[in-house]
Amino acid sequence: MATVGVFDSGAGGLSVLKELLRQLPGHRFVYYADNANVPYGEKSAAFITGRSREITRTLIGKGADIIVVACNTATAAAIDTLRASFPLPFVGMEPAVKPAALGTRSGVIGVLATAGTFKGSRYLTTRSNYEDGCKIVESVGKGWVELVENGILDGPKAEDTVRASVQPLLDSGADTLVLGCTHYPFLTPVIARVAGPGVKLINPAPAVARRTAQVLSEKGLLPIGTENNGDSRVELLSSGDGKVLHKLYGLVR
Ligand code: DGL
Repeated sequence: MATVGVFDSGAGGLSVLKELLRQLPGHRFVYYADNANVPYGEKSAAFITGRSREITRTLIGKGADIIVVACNTATAAAIDTLRASFPLPFVGMEPAVKPAALGTRSGVIGVLATAGTFKGSRYLTTRSNYEDGCKIVESVGKGWVELVENGILDGPKAEDTVRASVQPLLDSGADTLVLGCTHYPFLTPVIARVAGPGVKLINPAPAVARRTAQVLSEKGLLPIGTENNGDSRVELLSSGDGKVLHKLYGLVR
């Protein structure tokens, strides 16, 4: 059994934990939400890197064999430093531009992420690799993280807030929306309603969970061909108020 450390600025990374639990049943998961410092989106890379190092130490103290950075913004700011500073493997995430670029029929894809993710060199490189084949339009999901952190996942306020960021992408002709922040999948019903039936939403969480399983397997922590059907164990940690964290965990487990 492996211990998988998972962290995010808040409860958003639970959208990734959900897939990890589905694809890696029977393992132990320790999830850290930095609720005291959410949102990360507009914070400096130096601050996010400092927090990511601190959280990594906590997760290692809890026995983590691997750490999933279930946060696009923290991956953009900190994953190179984390990999250089700690001996265990890290799985990060970035907006899933590739499947969107390969699947679009209108030739326009919309990427939704935080300001920090859009500034990161990983995203900029990925974008430049695909923008010859399609048009890539971007929008920060303004206020979306706050909605999720307040447990507002639907209703008129959620719909207005989602529409303000999605409409410009639709107006540009996007037929595919990349959910490039782990909080955003919690708003999927609203985003899908606002975008309409012809628009595809891409959540990278299943791919991140597959990559985590692959790394665990390479490290010999997940012997290939061995089914592990035991119960998963999950520990939730928070630097702040863990109320919404526990509430949203109830939706993903
Ligand atoms: N959930 C995060 C992400 O994937 C960060 C959101 C935030 O704290 O701004 O980018």
